[in-house]
Amino acid sequence: AASVGRGADGVLAIGGVSVVELAREFGTPAYVLDEDDFRARAREFKQTYAEVFDDLCGGADVYYAGKAFLCTEVARWIRDEGLFLDVCTGGELAVAIRAGVPGSSIGMHGNNKSAAEIRAALDHGVSRIIVDSFEEIERVAAIAAELGVIAPVLVRVTVGVEAHTHEFIATAHEDQKFGFSLAGGHAIEAVRQVLARPDTLRLLGLHSHIGSQIFDTAGFEVSARRVLGLHTQIARELGVELPELDLGGGFGIAYTTEHDPQSPKALAVGMAEIVERECRADGVAVPRISIEPGRAIAGPSTFTLYEVGTVKPVELDGGASRLYVSVDGGMSDNIRTALYDADYSCTVANRRSEATPSLARVVGRHCESGDIVVKDEFLPGDVGPGDLVAVPGTGAYCRALSSQYNHTPRPPVIAVRDGQARVIVRRETIDDLLALDVWPA
Ligand code: LLP
Repeated sequence: AASVGRGADGVLAIGGVSVVELAREFGTPAYVLDEDDFRARAREFKQTYAEVFDDLCGGADVYYAGKAFLCTEVARWIRDEGLFLDVCTGGELAVAIRAGVPGSSIGMHGNNKSAAEIRAALDHGVSRIIVDSFEEIERVAAIAAELGVIAPVLVRVTVGVEAHTHEFIATAHEDQKFGFSLAGGHAIEAVRQVLARPDTLRLLGLHSHIGSQIFDTAGFEVSARRVLGLHTQIARELGVELPELDLGGGFGIAYTTEHDPQSPKALAVGMAEIVERECRADGVAVPRISIEPGRAIAGPSTFTLYEVGTVKPVELDGGASRLYVSVDGGMSDNIRTALYDADYSCTVANRRSEATPSLARVVGRHCESGDIVVKDEFLPGDVGPGDLVAVPGTGAYCRALSSQYNHTPRPPVIAVRDGQARVIVRRETIDDLLALDVWPA
């Protein structure tokens, strides 16, 4: 995780920069992103997968899932580190283009891409469009014909796996919107339809993604086996050995000490074993593998830094009590606790305290009681106004899912590295909020 430690004065430093200085210079709340940490994890995925899959299929490609967190600077880091980029909207594609990411290292997702998005992706020469519906197969083919190109596509397959994660972020059971059902025969039909349009579509392979924040590798295994089963069926029945296979992302990270994620190495080795076994058994060539981690690269790199405004003790049933520690952000910068019942931890970051720890709940400044950032944490009993609270693990799906709820300007993203801090996404202002309101002439 991000390089953090306390100095002799008890002040937390991230990437060599003290949080007190960060708060003074940039204000709070702020996302503080440790650049070396982000890059190191991106590089680790890239190198590990290249090595582990080298003998099997000449390496594997890592597409960073930009939905976890994307801005122009981060897209540049991804390109620098040699990863590819998975985008799922025209907006994410625009960021990639502005960052100078070539089309050849971009994959385009989305279950309802607009014609304009498909056109923009093909115009930019993306390396793959992951198709998600029969309508879309037609649509991509028609736009490719218009542009006079052949669109490289992957067919997204619903493998029917119940991933052990929050129901909102599981994506491979039957009763949800993504992919072509394997069991229902839609996936093979989609493959047939793509293969029937060689003038406009080129089928690169299949794609499967079962969900996010997953620790139970059994889900990945079953999914890989099923999608490889279809891959080999296509070789047998249709005589087509597809050159690629994408196994998706979803690798869980540790938000609290209860989580115990697998290393990229362990994940890669596990995947490689399955891929090799299944392909051997069926006598087909091993396709080039790709994966799409988002959270596992971005998540641990970032802290959110807040300032405490008020502290209110509340009596609980049974005589215990809880400190409600209100900070200057909340569900607008991290909705994951409210939305997924996610667990976070936190620490008082601006000083050391010898005070007895008290059960605390870190809450935001928004107008609803579900506006909780950290459900339960023991904080020093003397935590008070002006203290800084740091919440680790907020690099994925926090800024990305942020809102302006209650007309709250979004916090900046500050990159720290070697004792230096710089803004990579600036703080929104009240003027930014007002800029979209149209007044009567
Ligand atoms: N590939 C596809 C097709 C995806 O849909 C996703 C995530 C990923 C890759 C990357 O998954 P990751 O490695 O980051 O787990 N907002 C939720 C997570 C939504 C994930 C959406 N798709 C959250 O905050 O937990």
